[in-house]
Amino acid sequence: MKKYLVWDIPVRLFHWLLVLCLFGQWFTTEVLENAMHIHFYIGYFTLGLIIFRLLWGFFGTRYAKFSSFIAGPKAIISYLQSLASKQKSYTTGHNPLGGLLLPAVLILVGLQAISGLFTSDDIVSAGPYYDSANSVIQGWMQWLHKNIFDVLMGLVVIHLLAITWYKLGLKHDLITPMLTGQKVVEVSKGIAHSKLVKAFMLAITVGIFIYWLVEINPPPVEEYYY
Ligand code: HEM
Ligand code: HEM
Repeated sequence: MKKYLVWDIPVRLFHWLLVLCLFGQWFTTEVLENAMHIHFYIGYFTLGLIIFRLLWGFFGTRYAKFSSFIAGPKAIISYLQSLASKQKSYTTGHNPLGGLLLPAVLILVGLQAISGLFTSDDIVSAGPYYDSANSVIQGWMQWLHKNIFDVLMGLVVIHLLAITWYKLGLKHDLITPMLTGQKVVEVSKGIAHSKLVKAFMLAITVGIFIYWLVEINPPPVEEYYY
């Protein structure tokens, strides 16, 4: 058993950039005034992060792939039973329960960002697709945008409690591997490298798509917002 790479660079970058972006989104609406334009740019970037991680879940390295950690109810229950037993076994990647976090976060943050595109603050700023929606859709999107964030924060609290419990209760550190990428595992379980060329190409493609989505495709914004 030695330290080997488990979390590739894209997974770690995604995680810590997502944390920064969500903090930024809260800060630009709840603390700063007149920072909607920054809120929009961070929102577009966050949407890009989400799309990137979705694709990385199919094309990424071993433990980044959905296939390595999406488990059914049986696996989740037997994992919970194993925690109660004396002989604990730890997974190299996400555990079956923790593996549910990524899809939940991708759906919630994805919906948050998409609903933002259709949201207006009713004063000066409107997302690029606000004008193309009718008032019913606008109302739904505004509602989603105001409420999903709280659900997301509830999930983050559970996430942090689980990690703290692993550290203090089970004496198992999950945080350092999410920073360095390395865990103590058998040779055969580590990944060789982060597939950075593939990640770079995917990131460029996602960047171009986001630019098209928010700059080229939207209908012209009506004058009354200014
Ligand atoms: C806005 C706050 C946060 C969100 C939305 C979030 C979300 C996530 C997601 C989606 C994953 C899965 C990563 C992937 O497979 O790509 C993850 C893993 C992880 N996060 Fe967070 N996270 C947040 C904050 C934090 C903080 C503050 C810490 C550390 C103190 C942390 C520590 C970890 C660790 C250690 C893992 C890996 C867990 C494992 O080994 O299975 N997270 N997080
Ligand atoms: C994942 C990315 C995003 C997050 C986490 C986020 C988060 C938030 C939060 C917490 C608020 C305050 C809601 C409240 O009033 O209680 C807000 C408001 C707002 N957001 Fe976002 N947002 C994101 C993306 C976007 C995007 C992409 C746009 C538009 C392009 C946008 C447009 C707006 C607008 C216009 C408001 C003001 C709504 C109002 O005053 O009723 N957001 N956002």
